[in-house]
Amino acid sequence: TAARAAENATFAFKPIDIATDDLIHVPEGYESNVLVRWGDALWSDAQGAFSHENGVSVDMSDKVFGENTDGMELFDVDGKQVIAVNSEYVNPKVNLPEEAEGMPRTAEEVQLLKNLQGVTVMEVEAADKGFKVVVDSPLNRRITHETEMMIAGPLAGSDLVKTNADPMGTTVKGTMNNCGSGRTLWNTYLTCEENFNGYFGATGEHEATPGEVRYGIGGEGRYAYEKFDPRYDLTQEPNEPNRHGFVTEINPADPNSTPVKRTALGRFKHENAEMVHAKDGRVVVYMGDDERGEFLYKYVSTNTWAEGQSPEGILDDGTLYAAKFNDDLTGEWLALTPETTGMSGEEILCFTRMAASAAGATTMDRPEWVASNPLKVEAYCALTNNKNRGVKPNAGGDETPVDAVNPRETNNYGQIVRWTPADENHAADNFAWDLYVMAGNPDVYDNEYAGSDNVNAGNMFNSPDGMAFSSDGMLWIQTDGDYSNEGEFEGMGNNQMLVGNPETGEIARFMTVPYGAEVTGLCWSLDKKTAFVGVQHPGGTWPDMGEGNKPRSSVVAVWRTDGATFG
Ligand code: FEO
Ligand code: CA
Ligand code: CA
Ligand code: CA
Repeated sequence: TAARAAENATFAFKPIDIATDDLIHVPEGYESNVLVRWGDALWSDAQGAFSHENGVSVDMSDKVFGENTDGMELFDVDGKQVIAVNSEYVNPKVNLPEEAEGMPRTAEEVQLLKNLQGVTVMEVEAADKGFKVVVDSPLNRRITHETEMMIAGPLAGSDLVKTNADPMGTTVKGTMNNCGSGRTLWNTYLTCEENFNGYFGATGEHEATPGEVRYGIGGEGRYAYEKFDPRYDLTQEPNEPNRHGFVTEINPADPNSTPVKRTALGRFKHENAEMVHAKDGRVVVYMGDDERGEFLYKYVSTNTWAEGQSPEGILDDGTLYAAKFNDDLTGEWLALTPETTGMSGEEILCFTRMAASAAGATTMDRPEWVASNPLKVEAYCALTNNKNRGVKPNAGGDETPVDAVNPRETNNYGQIVRWTPADENHAADNFAWDLYVMAGNPDVYDNEYAGSDNVNAGNMFNSPDGMAFSSDGMLWIQTDGDYSNEGEFEGMGNNQMLVGNPETGEIARFMTVPYGAEVTGLCWSLDKKTAFVGVQHPGGTWPDMGEGNKPRSSVVAVWRTDGATFG
Protein backbone atom coordinates (compact mmCIF):
# COMPACT_ATOMS: atom_id res chain seq x y z
CA THR A 1 0.00 0.00 0.00
CA ALA A 2 2.95 2.37 0.47
CA ALA A 3 3.69 1.97 -3.23
CA ARG A 4 0.06 2.69 -4.04
CA ALA A 5 0.05 5.77 -1.83
CA ALA A 6 3.17 7.05 -3.56
CA GLU A 7 1.20 7.24 -6.78
CA ASN A 8 -0.32 10.40 -5.30
CA ALA A 9 2.62 12.42 -4.09
CA THR A 10 1.59 16.04 -4.42
CA PHE A 11 -0.82 16.40 -1.50
CA ALA A 12 -0.09 17.85 1.93
CA PHE A 13 -0.99 14.49 3.48
CA LYS A 14 -0.01 10.92 2.86
CA PRO A 15 -2.98 9.24 1.21
CA ILE A 16 -4.51 6.40 3.20
CA ASP A 17 -5.41 2.88 2.23
CA ILE A 18 -8.96 1.59 1.96
CA ALA A 19 -10.67 0.28 5.09
CA THR A 20 -13.36 -2.34 5.65
CA ASP A 21 -13.71 -1.97 9.42
CA ASP A 22 -16.04 -0.07 11.75
CA LEU A 23 -13.74 2.86 12.40
CA ILE A 24 -12.83 6.27 11.02
CA HIS A 25 -9.40 6.57 9.43
CA VAL A 26 -7.52 9.79 8.61
CA PRO A 27 -3.92 10.32 7.40
CA GLU A 28 -0.84 10.26 9.59
CA GLY A 29 -0.55 13.58 11.40
CA TYR A 30 -4.33 14.03 11.62
CA GLU A 31 -6.76 13.07 14.37
CA SER A 32 -10.52 12.76 14.56
CA ASN A 33 -13.17 12.72 17.24
CA VAL A 34 -16.95 12.67 17.33
CA LEU A 35 -18.52 16.12 17.75
CA VAL A 36 -22.17 15.11 18.09
CA ARG A 37 -24.31 11.98 17.63
CA TRP A 38 -28.06 11.69 17.03
CA GLY A 39 -29.73 11.84 20.41
CA ASP A 40 -27.09 14.10 22.00
CA ALA A 41 -28.55 16.99 24.00
CA LEU A 42 -28.65 20.54 22.65
CA TRP A 43 -30.19 21.78 25.89
CA SER A 44 -29.39 20.59 29.40
CA ASP A 45 -32.89 19.29 30.09
CA ALA A 46 -32.26 16.69 27.39
CA GLN A 47 -28.96 15.51 28.82
CA GLY A 48 -29.04 11.75 29.19
CA ALA A 49 -32.19 11.57 27.05
CA PHE A 50 -30.66 8.96 24.75
CA SER A 51 -30.23 5.35 25.73
CA HIS A 52 -29.17 2.42 23.59
CA GLU A 53 -32.15 0.54 24.88
CA ASN A 54 -34.88 3.08 24.08
CA GLY A 55 -33.37 5.80 21.89
CA VAL A 56 -35.03 9.10 22.85
CA SER A 57 -38.58 9.75 24.04
CA VAL A 58 -40.99 11.82 21.98
CA ASP A 59 -40.87 14.80 24.36
CA MET A 60 -37.06 14.93 24.19
CA SER A 61 -36.90 14.31 20.44
CA ASP A 62 -36.81 17.98 19.41
CA LYS A 63 -34.18 18.84 22.02
CA VAL A 64 -31.47 16.56 20.68
CA PHE A 65 -29.28 16.35 17.60
CA GLY A 66 -31.26 14.78 14.76
CA GLU A 67 -30.76 11.51 12.90
CA ASN A 68 -28.80 10.92 9.67
CA THR A 69 -26.67 14.03 9.42
CA ASP A 70 -26.19 15.47 5.93
CA GLY A 71 -25.23 18.85 4.42
CA MET A 72 -23.87 21.49 6.81
CA GLU A 73 -22.31 24.95 6.89
CA LEU A 74 -20.51 26.86 9.63
CA PHE A 75 -21.30 30.52 10.32
CA ASP A 76 -19.59 33.31 12.21
CA VAL A 77 -22.30 34.81 14.44
CA ASP A 78 -20.63 37.70 16.28
CA GLY A 79 -17.52 35.60 16.75
CA LYS A 80 -19.45 32.49 17.81
CA GLN A 81 -19.16 29.42 15.60
CA VAL A 82 -22.56 28.10 14.60
CA ILE A 83 -23.15 25.00 12.50
CA ALA A 84 -26.42 24.54 10.64
CA VAL A 85 -26.78 20.89 9.69
CA ASN A 86 -29.41 18.72 8.03
CA SER A 87 -30.98 15.53 9.35
CA GLU A 88 -32.10 13.91 6.16
CA TYR A 89 -34.24 10.95 7.20
CA VAL A 90 -34.85 8.45 9.99
CA ASN A 91 -34.18 4.76 10.50
CA PRO A 92 -37.39 3.72 12.30
CA LYS A 93 -35.86 0.37 13.25
CA VAL A 94 -33.19 2.26 15.19
CA ASN A 95 -35.27 5.25 16.33
CA LEU A 96 -38.50 3.55 17.42
CA PRO A 97 -38.99 0.92 20.13
CA GLU A 98 -38.24 -2.58 18.93
CA GLU A 99 -41.92 -3.61 19.17
CA ALA A 100 -42.75 -1.09 16.44
CA GLU A 101 -40.81 -3.26 13.98
CA GLY A 102 -39.73 -0.26 11.97
CA MET A 103 -43.10 1.45 11.43
CA PRO A 104 -44.77 4.01 13.70
CA ARG A 105 -47.91 2.69 15.42
CA THR A 106 -49.22 5.92 16.93
CA ALA A 107 -49.35 9.66 16.31
CA GLU A 108 -46.74 10.00 19.07
CA GLU A 109 -44.31 7.74 17.25
CA VAL A 110 -44.88 9.72 14.06
CA GLN A 111 -44.15 12.88 16.05
CA LEU A 112 -40.88 11.40 17.28
CA LEU A 113 -39.78 10.65 13.72
CA LYS A 114 -40.81 14.14 12.56
CA ASN A 115 -38.72 15.67 15.32
CA LEU A 116 -35.57 13.71 14.55
CA GLN A 117 -35.45 15.16 11.02
CA GLY A 118 -35.09 18.63 9.58
CA VAL A 119 -32.28 20.94 10.63
CA THR A 120 -30.19 21.51 13.74
CA VAL A 121 -28.57 24.88 14.40
CA MET A 122 -25.95 24.62 17.15
CA GLU A 123 -23.11 26.65 18.55
CA VAL A 124 -19.82 24.76 18.77
CA GLU A 125 -16.54 25.59 20.48
CA ALA A 126 -13.04 24.15 20.68
CA ALA A 127 -12.62 21.46 23.36
CA ASP A 128 -9.91 19.12 24.64
CA LYS A 129 -10.23 16.72 21.76
CA GLY A 130 -11.59 18.64 18.81
CA PHE A 131 -14.84 20.50 19.34
CA LYS A 132 -18.00 20.26 21.44
CA VAL A 133 -21.57 21.50 21.18
CA VAL A 134 -22.35 24.49 23.42
CA VAL A 135 -25.33 23.02 25.31
CA ASP A 136 -27.97 25.68 26.10
CA SER A 137 -26.49 28.25 23.70
CA PRO A 138 -29.23 30.77 22.87
CA LEU A 139 -28.36 30.15 19.21
CA ASN A 140 -29.25 26.45 19.38
CA ARG A 141 -32.37 25.53 17.46
CA ARG A 142 -34.21 22.54 16.07
CA ILE A 143 -36.25 22.89 12.91
CA THR A 144 -38.49 19.89 12.26
CA HIS A 145 -41.28 18.69 10.01
CA GLU A 146 -43.62 20.87 12.09
CA THR A 147 -41.77 24.20 12.18
CA GLU A 148 -43.71 27.15 10.70
CA MET A 149 -42.24 28.49 7.45
CA MET A 150 -43.11 31.07 4.85
CA ILE A 151 -43.65 30.40 1.17
CA ALA A 152 -41.91 33.11 -0.86
CA GLY A 153 -41.42 33.78 -4.54
CA PRO A 154 -43.81 33.30 -7.44
CA LEU A 155 -45.62 30.28 -5.96
CA ALA A 156 -46.65 32.18 -2.82
CA GLY A 157 -50.42 32.56 -2.98
CA SER A 158 -50.75 30.23 -6.00
CA ASP A 159 -53.73 27.89 -6.14
CA LEU A 160 -51.20 25.07 -6.54
CA VAL A 161 -50.03 25.47 -2.93
CA LYS A 162 -53.32 26.22 -1.14
CA THR A 163 -54.57 23.70 1.42
CA ASN A 164 -57.31 23.50 4.04
CA ALA A 165 -54.84 24.59 6.69
CA ASP A 166 -53.42 27.37 4.52
CA PRO A 167 -56.14 28.77 2.23
CA MET A 168 -53.86 31.69 1.30
CA GLY A 169 -50.97 29.48 0.15
CA THR A 170 -48.36 31.49 2.04
CA THR A 171 -47.34 29.47 5.09
CA VAL A 172 -46.30 25.84 5.48
CA LYS A 173 -45.09 23.53 8.19
CA GLY A 174 -41.77 21.80 7.96
CA THR A 175 -38.81 21.21 5.72
CA MET A 176 -38.35 17.58 4.72
CA ASN A 177 -35.63 15.17 3.65
CA ASN A 178 -32.99 17.83 4.02
CA CYS A 179 -30.11 16.54 1.97
CA GLY A 180 -27.37 18.89 0.77
CA SER A 181 -26.80 22.46 1.82
CA GLY A 182 -25.60 25.82 0.68
CA ARG A 183 -24.88 29.25 2.04
CA THR A 184 -25.88 32.61 0.74
CA LEU A 185 -23.49 35.48 0.09
CA TRP A 186 -25.28 37.20 3.01
CA ASN A 187 -24.48 34.33 5.41
CA THR A 188 -27.73 32.47 5.75
CA TYR A 189 -28.18 28.72 5.45
CA LEU A 190 -29.81 26.95 2.51
CA THR A 191 -31.31 23.54 3.24
CA CYS A 192 -32.35 21.43 0.28
CA GLU A 193 -35.48 19.24 0.28
CA GLU A 194 -34.72 16.04 -1.60
CA ASN A 195 -36.91 12.92 -1.42
CA PHE A 196 -39.94 14.75 -0.01
CA ASN A 197 -42.28 12.57 -2.05
CA GLY A 198 -41.82 9.61 0.30
CA TYR A 199 -43.57 11.29 3.23
CA PHE A 200 -46.98 11.40 1.54
CA GLY A 201 -49.48 8.63 1.06
CA ALA A 202 -53.16 8.09 0.32
CA THR A 203 -55.51 6.56 2.87
CA GLY A 204 -58.34 6.33 0.33
CA GLU A 205 -58.93 6.35 -3.41
CA HIS A 206 -56.40 8.56 -5.09
CA GLU A 207 -55.57 8.59 -8.76
CA ALA A 208 -52.08 10.00 -9.23
CA THR A 209 -51.80 13.02 -11.52
CA PRO A 210 -48.98 13.19 -14.12
CA GLY A 211 -47.27 15.75 -11.87
CA GLU A 212 -47.38 13.35 -8.92
CA VAL A 213 -46.18 10.45 -11.03
CA ARG A 214 -43.16 12.42 -12.28
CA TYR A 215 -42.13 13.11 -8.67
CA GLY A 216 -42.90 9.62 -7.36
CA ILE A 217 -45.82 10.74 -5.21
CA GLY A 218 -48.56 8.24 -4.43
CA GLY A 219 -49.05 4.85 -2.84
CA GLU A 220 -48.01 4.52 0.76
CA GLY A 221 -45.83 6.97 2.67
CA ARG A 222 -42.53 5.57 3.85
CA TYR A 223 -43.21 6.30 7.55
CA ALA A 224 -47.04 6.01 7.60
CA TYR A 225 -47.40 9.72 8.43
CA GLU A 226 -50.63 9.85 6.43
CA LYS A 227 -52.33 7.41 8.80
CA PHE A 228 -51.95 9.81 11.73
CA ASP A 229 -51.76 13.29 10.21
CA PRO A 230 -54.21 14.38 7.47
CA ARG A 231 -51.64 16.87 6.14
CA TYR A 232 -49.70 13.94 4.66
CA ASP A 233 -52.79 12.21 3.26
CA LEU A 234 -53.13 12.79 -0.47
CA THR A 235 -56.79 11.88 -0.24
CA GLN A 236 -57.40 14.88 2.04
CA GLU A 237 -54.67 17.36 1.08
CA PRO A 238 -53.61 16.73 -2.54
CA ASN A 239 -51.73 20.05 -2.70
CA GLU A 240 -49.56 19.51 0.38
CA PRO A 241 -46.72 17.84 -1.61
CA ASN A 242 -46.62 20.91 -3.89
CA ARG A 243 -45.38 22.85 -0.85
CA HIS A 244 -42.22 20.74 -0.47
CA GLY A 245 -39.22 20.01 -2.65
CA PHE A 246 -37.75 23.49 -2.40
CA VAL A 247 -34.59 25.23 -1.26
CA THR A 248 -35.35 26.73 2.17
CA GLU A 249 -33.43 29.64 3.68
CA ILE A 250 -32.71 29.78 7.42
CA ASN A 251 -31.04 32.59 9.34
CA PRO A 252 -28.64 30.86 11.76
CA ALA A 253 -28.02 34.11 13.64
CA ASP A 254 -31.66 34.46 14.75
CA PRO A 255 -33.27 31.44 16.41
CA ASN A 256 -36.67 33.16 16.25
CA SER A 257 -36.57 33.82 12.51
CA THR A 258 -39.06 32.10 10.21
CA PRO A 259 -37.48 29.85 7.57
CA VAL A 260 -38.46 30.75 4.00
CA LYS A 261 -39.14 28.40 1.09
CA ARG A 262 -37.65 29.99 -2.02
CA THR A 263 -40.00 28.76 -4.74
CA ALA A 264 -38.23 30.70 -7.50
CA LEU A 265 -35.45 28.07 -7.31
CA GLY A 266 -37.84 25.37 -8.51
CA ARG A 267 -39.35 22.23 -7.10
CA PHE A 268 -37.49 18.97 -7.53
CA LYS A 269 -35.44 16.52 -5.46
CA HIS A 270 -32.90 19.13 -4.49
CA GLU A 271 -29.43 17.87 -3.63
CA ASN A 272 -27.59 21.06 -2.69
CA ALA A 273 -27.54 24.75 -3.62
CA GLU A 274 -24.18 26.25 -4.58
CA MET A 275 -24.43 30.03 -4.64
CA VAL A 276 -21.90 32.11 -6.53
CA HIS A 277 -21.64 35.75 -7.41
CA ALA A 278 -21.59 36.25 -11.17
CA LYS A 279 -19.13 38.70 -12.73
CA ASP A 280 -22.04 40.98 -13.62
CA GLY A 281 -23.23 41.15 -9.98
CA ARG A 282 -26.21 38.82 -10.31
CA VAL A 283 -26.57 35.90 -7.91
CA VAL A 284 -26.39 32.39 -9.35
CA VAL A 285 -27.41 29.16 -7.60
CA TYR A 286 -26.40 25.80 -9.09
CA MET A 287 -28.59 22.85 -8.13
CA GLY A 288 -28.77 19.13 -8.93
CA ASP A 289 -31.93 17.02 -9.01
CA ASP A 290 -30.83 13.65 -7.71
CA GLU A 291 -32.72 11.03 -9.62
CA ARG A 292 -31.79 8.93 -12.62
CA GLY A 293 -32.46 10.87 -15.79
CA GLU A 294 -33.20 14.19 -14.11
CA PHE A 295 -31.37 17.47 -14.64
CA LEU A 296 -28.80 20.02 -13.53
CA TYR A 297 -30.23 23.50 -12.92
CA LYS A 298 -29.19 27.04 -12.22
CA TYR A 299 -31.07 30.04 -10.95
CA VAL A 300 -30.00 33.55 -11.94
CA SER A 301 -31.39 36.52 -10.02
CA THR A 302 -32.94 39.35 -12.00
CA ASN A 303 -31.27 42.04 -9.91
CA THR A 304 -27.67 42.38 -8.90
CA TRP A 305 -26.53 42.22 -5.31
CA ALA A 306 -23.48 43.67 -3.57
CA GLU A 307 -22.07 43.31 -0.06
CA GLY A 308 -23.93 45.57 2.32
CA GLN A 309 -27.17 45.58 0.29
CA SER A 310 -30.39 43.95 1.40
CA PRO A 311 -30.87 40.54 -0.25
CA GLU A 312 -34.64 41.14 -0.34
CA GLY A 313 -36.06 39.67 -3.54
CA ILE A 314 -32.76 38.26 -4.81
CA LEU A 315 -33.99 34.67 -4.35
CA ASP A 316 -37.61 35.45 -5.28
CA ASP A 317 -37.21 37.08 -8.68
CA GLY A 318 -35.06 35.39 -11.29
CA THR A 319 -34.87 32.85 -14.08
CA LEU A 320 -34.46 29.12 -13.77
CA TYR A 321 -32.34 27.28 -16.36
CA ALA A 322 -31.67 23.58 -17.06
CA ALA A 323 -28.40 22.38 -18.56
CA LYS A 324 -27.94 20.96 -22.04
CA PHE A 325 -24.60 19.23 -22.55
CA ASN A 326 -23.54 18.88 -26.18
CA ASP A 327 -21.24 16.06 -27.26
CA ASP A 328 -18.67 18.58 -28.56
CA LEU A 329 -17.91 19.70 -24.97
CA THR A 330 -20.01 22.85 -25.23
CA GLY A 331 -23.19 23.42 -23.31
CA GLU A 332 -26.14 25.74 -22.96
CA TRP A 333 -28.36 26.85 -20.14
CA LEU A 334 -31.94 26.55 -21.35
CA ALA A 335 -34.21 29.16 -19.77
CA LEU A 336 -37.43 27.66 -18.42
CA THR A 337 -40.09 30.12 -19.54
CA PRO A 338 -43.70 29.85 -20.77
CA GLU A 339 -42.32 30.16 -24.34
CA THR A 340 -39.78 27.32 -24.00
CA THR A 341 -41.99 24.98 -21.95
CA GLY A 342 -45.61 25.69 -22.84
CA MET A 343 -46.29 25.93 -19.10
CA SER A 344 -47.35 28.85 -16.92
CA GLY A 345 -44.79 30.52 -14.67
CA GLU A 346 -46.35 28.86 -11.61
CA GLU A 347 -46.41 25.43 -13.26
CA ILE A 348 -42.73 25.76 -14.19
CA LEU A 349 -41.79 26.29 -10.54
CA CYS A 350 -44.11 23.59 -9.19
CA PHE A 351 -43.45 20.94 -11.86
CA THR A 352 -39.92 21.98 -12.75
CA ARG A 353 -38.92 18.53 -13.97
CA MET A 354 -41.59 18.62 -16.64
CA ALA A 355 -40.55 22.11 -17.67
CA ALA A 356 -36.93 21.02 -18.12
CA SER A 357 -38.06 18.01 -20.17
CA ALA A 358 -40.12 20.29 -22.40
CA ALA A 359 -37.17 22.63 -22.89
CA GLY A 360 -34.92 19.76 -23.99
CA ALA A 361 -32.40 19.59 -21.13
CA THR A 362 -29.89 16.71 -20.96
CA THR A 363 -30.88 13.77 -18.74
CA MET A 364 -28.09 13.06 -16.27
CA ASP A 365 -26.71 10.19 -14.19
CA ARG A 366 -28.15 11.48 -10.88
CA PRO A 367 -26.81 15.00 -10.23
CA GLU A 368 -25.71 15.25 -6.59
CA TRP A 369 -23.65 18.13 -5.16
CA VAL A 370 -22.36 21.07 -7.12
CA ALA A 371 -19.21 22.85 -5.87
CA SER A 372 -17.61 25.96 -7.32
CA ASN A 373 -13.89 26.63 -7.31
CA PRO A 374 -13.10 29.72 -5.18
CA LEU A 375 -9.93 30.39 -7.20
CA LYS A 376 -11.39 30.04 -10.67
CA VAL A 377 -14.69 30.58 -12.49
CA GLU A 378 -15.69 26.93 -12.80
CA ALA A 379 -18.05 24.50 -11.10
CA TYR A 380 -18.28 20.74 -10.63
CA CYS A 381 -21.22 18.38 -10.26
CA ALA A 382 -21.02 14.81 -8.94
CA LEU A 383 -23.04 12.45 -11.15
CA THR A 384 -23.20 9.69 -8.63
CA ASN A 385 -24.20 6.65 -10.73
CA ASN A 386 -26.94 5.28 -12.94
CA LYS A 387 -27.48 1.59 -12.45
CA ASN A 388 -30.58 1.26 -14.59
CA ARG A 389 -30.09 3.24 -17.75
CA GLY A 390 -32.86 2.58 -20.19
CA VAL A 391 -35.42 1.97 -17.46
CA LYS A 392 -37.42 5.19 -17.39
CA PRO A 393 -36.64 7.07 -14.19
CA ASN A 394 -40.29 7.83 -13.53
CA ALA A 395 -43.29 7.46 -15.74
CA GLY A 396 -43.32 10.63 -17.76
CA GLY A 397 -39.55 11.05 -17.46
CA ASP A 398 -37.29 11.18 -20.49
CA GLU A 399 -35.21 8.51 -22.18
CA THR A 400 -31.67 8.46 -20.78
CA PRO A 401 -29.36 7.68 -23.68
CA VAL A 402 -25.60 7.32 -23.39
CA ASP A 403 -23.96 10.60 -24.40
CA ALA A 404 -20.64 12.35 -23.90
CA VAL A 405 -21.39 13.58 -20.38
CA ASN A 406 -23.06 10.31 -19.30
CA PRO A 407 -20.80 8.04 -21.31
CA ARG A 408 -21.32 4.56 -19.85
CA GLU A 409 -24.29 2.27 -20.37
CA THR A 410 -24.49 0.72 -16.89
CA ASN A 411 -22.88 3.30 -14.66
CA ASN A 412 -22.13 1.82 -11.23
CA TYR A 413 -19.19 4.11 -10.54
CA GLY A 414 -20.23 7.66 -11.42
CA GLN A 415 -18.35 10.67 -12.79
CA ILE A 416 -17.74 14.33 -11.99
CA VAL A 417 -18.47 16.90 -14.68
CA ARG A 418 -16.96 20.38 -14.61
CA TRP A 419 -17.93 23.45 -16.58
CA THR A 420 -16.43 26.85 -17.32
CA PRO A 421 -19.00 29.58 -17.99
CA ALA A 422 -18.53 31.78 -21.05
CA ASP A 423 -16.79 35.13 -20.36
CA GLU A 424 -15.95 33.93 -16.84
CA ASN A 425 -19.54 34.83 -15.96
CA HIS A 426 -21.62 32.30 -14.01
CA ALA A 427 -24.74 34.06 -15.32
CA ALA A 428 -23.76 33.41 -18.98
CA ASP A 429 -25.95 31.23 -21.21
CA ASN A 430 -23.10 29.10 -22.54
CA PHE A 431 -20.30 27.02 -21.10
CA ALA A 432 -17.52 24.60 -21.96
CA TRP A 433 -17.34 21.33 -20.05
CA ASP A 434 -15.22 18.25 -19.46
CA LEU A 435 -15.22 15.25 -17.16
CA TYR A 436 -12.91 15.87 -14.22
CA VAL A 437 -12.97 12.19 -13.36
CA MET A 438 -14.75 9.04 -14.39
CA ALA A 439 -14.65 6.71 -11.41
CA GLY A 440 -13.83 3.10 -12.15
CA ASN A 441 -11.89 0.03 -11.17
CA PRO A 442 -8.58 -0.43 -13.01
CA ASP A 443 -7.96 -3.70 -11.13
CA VAL A 444 -11.08 -5.31 -12.57
CA TYR A 445 -11.47 -3.63 -15.96
CA ASP A 446 -9.28 -2.40 -18.78
CA ASN A 447 -12.06 -0.67 -20.70
CA GLU A 448 -14.07 2.49 -19.87
CA TYR A 449 -15.06 0.93 -16.55
CA ALA A 450 -11.42 1.22 -15.43
CA GLY A 451 -12.12 4.93 -15.07
CA SER A 452 -10.27 7.98 -16.33
CA ASP A 453 -6.48 8.39 -16.23
CA ASN A 454 -6.54 10.02 -12.80
CA VAL A 455 -8.05 6.88 -11.24
CA ASN A 456 -5.62 4.23 -10.05
CA ALA A 457 -5.46 1.25 -7.75
CA GLY A 458 -4.46 3.54 -4.90
CA ASN A 459 -7.32 6.05 -5.07
CA MET A 460 -10.27 4.24 -6.57
CA PHE A 461 -13.78 4.96 -5.36
CA ASN A 462 -17.36 4.81 -6.56
CA SER A 463 -20.44 7.04 -6.38
CA PRO A 464 -19.17 10.56 -5.72
CA ASP A 465 -21.86 12.54 -3.89
CA GLY A 466 -20.90 15.35 -1.47
CA MET A 467 -18.38 17.92 -2.71
CA ALA A 468 -16.91 21.13 -1.37
CA PHE A 469 -13.88 23.25 -2.12
CA SER A 470 -11.42 24.31 0.55
CA SER A 471 -10.14 27.87 0.37
CA ASP A 472 -6.89 26.66 -1.23
CA GLY A 473 -8.82 25.48 -4.30
CA MET A 474 -8.82 21.74 -3.56
CA LEU A 475 -11.95 19.71 -4.33
CA TRP A 476 -13.07 17.43 -1.48
CA ILE A 477 -15.11 14.48 -2.73
CA GLN A 478 -17.31 12.32 -0.50
CA THR A 479 -18.73 8.98 -1.58
CA ASP A 480 -22.07 7.27 -1.04
CA GLY A 481 -21.55 4.05 -2.87
CA ASP A 482 -21.16 0.32 -2.79
CA TYR A 483 -18.99 -0.60 0.23
CA SER A 484 -19.01 -4.38 -0.30
CA ASN A 485 -15.37 -4.35 -1.44
CA GLU A 486 -16.33 -7.24 -3.70
CA GLY A 487 -16.62 -7.95 -7.40
CA GLU A 488 -16.43 -4.77 -9.40
CA PHE A 489 -16.07 -2.80 -6.17
CA GLU A 490 -13.11 -4.82 -4.90
CA GLY A 491 -10.31 -2.55 -3.77
CA MET A 492 -12.63 0.36 -2.99
CA GLY A 493 -13.52 -0.53 0.61
CA ASN A 494 -15.78 1.57 2.79
CA ASN A 495 -17.09 4.96 1.71
CA GLN A 496 -14.44 7.62 1.75
CA MET A 497 -13.48 11.24 1.34
CA LEU A 498 -10.86 12.13 -1.24
CA VAL A 499 -9.14 15.33 -2.26
CA GLY A 500 -8.83 16.31 -5.92
CA ASN A 501 -6.44 18.80 -7.42
CA PRO A 502 -8.38 20.62 -10.16
CA GLU A 503 -5.21 21.67 -11.99
CA THR A 504 -3.38 18.34 -12.20
CA GLY A 505 -6.41 16.07 -11.93
CA GLU A 506 -4.72 14.09 -9.14
CA ILE A 507 -6.97 12.55 -6.50
CA ALA A 508 -5.91 11.15 -3.12
CA ARG A 509 -7.81 9.36 -0.37
CA PHE A 510 -8.01 11.39 2.85
CA MET A 511 -10.53 9.60 5.04
CA THR A 512 -12.56 6.42 5.32
CA VAL A 513 -15.74 5.97 7.37
CA PRO A 514 -17.20 2.92 9.15
CA TYR A 515 -18.65 0.04 7.16
CA GLY A 516 -22.12 0.81 5.86
CA ALA A 517 -21.87 4.58 6.30
CA GLU A 518 -21.75 7.26 3.66
CA VAL A 519 -19.72 10.43 4.06
CA THR A 520 -21.85 13.51 3.72
CA GLY A 521 -21.53 17.14 4.70
CA LEU A 522 -18.30 19.08 5.10
CA CYS A 523 -17.42 22.45 6.58
CA TRP A 524 -14.53 24.04 8.44
CA SER A 525 -14.01 25.94 11.67
CA LEU A 526 -13.48 29.69 11.28
CA ASP A 527 -9.70 29.28 11.67
CA LYS A 528 -9.70 26.45 9.05
CA LYS A 529 -7.85 24.19 11.47
CA THR A 530 -10.72 21.75 11.95
CA ALA A 531 -12.90 20.06 9.37
CA PHE A 532 -16.37 18.81 10.27
CA VAL A 533 -17.45 15.72 8.38
CA GLY A 534 -20.80 13.93 8.45
CA VAL A 535 -21.14 10.18 8.84
CA GLN A 536 -24.60 8.97 7.81
CA HIS A 537 -26.19 5.55 8.39
CA PRO A 538 -23.24 3.63 9.88
CA GLY A 539 -23.84 -0.10 9.52
CA GLY A 540 -22.49 -1.51 12.79
CA THR A 541 -22.64 0.07 16.24
CA TRP A 542 -20.31 3.01 15.58
CA PRO A 543 -19.45 5.27 17.31
CA ASP A 544 -20.37 3.91 20.76
CA MET A 545 -19.60 0.33 19.69
CA GLY A 546 -20.63 -2.61 21.85
CA GLU A 547 -22.88 -5.56 21.11
CA GLY A 548 -26.57 -4.67 20.77
CA ASN A 549 -25.98 -0.92 20.78
CA LYS A 550 -27.60 1.39 18.27
CA PRO A 551 -25.61 2.91 15.41
CA ARG A 552 -25.52 6.71 15.68
CA SER A 553 -25.04 8.96 12.69
CA SER A 554 -22.60 11.65 13.84
CA VAL A 555 -20.61 14.69 12.87
CA VAL A 556 -16.87 14.15 13.29
CA ALA A 557 -14.16 16.78 13.80
CA VAL A 558 -10.82 16.25 12.02
CA TRP A 559 -7.70 18.29 12.75
CA ARG A 560 -3.93 18.25 12.25
CA THR A 561 -1.94 17.24 15.30
CA ASP A 562 0.52 20.06 14.57
CA GLY A 563 -2.36 22.55 14.72
CA ALA A 564 -1.86 23.81 11.16
CA THR A 565 -4.70 24.97 8.92
CA PHE A 566 -5.91 22.71 6.12
CA GLY A 567 -9.28 24.10 5.06
FE1 FEO B 1 -29.64 12.76 -0.18
FE2 FEO B 1 -28.90 12.67 -3.31
O1 FEO B 1 -28.49 12.48 -1.59
CA1 CA C 1 -26.22 13.07 -1.23
CA1 CA D 1 -26.10 9.61 -2.80
CA1 CA E 1 -27.88 9.73 2.06
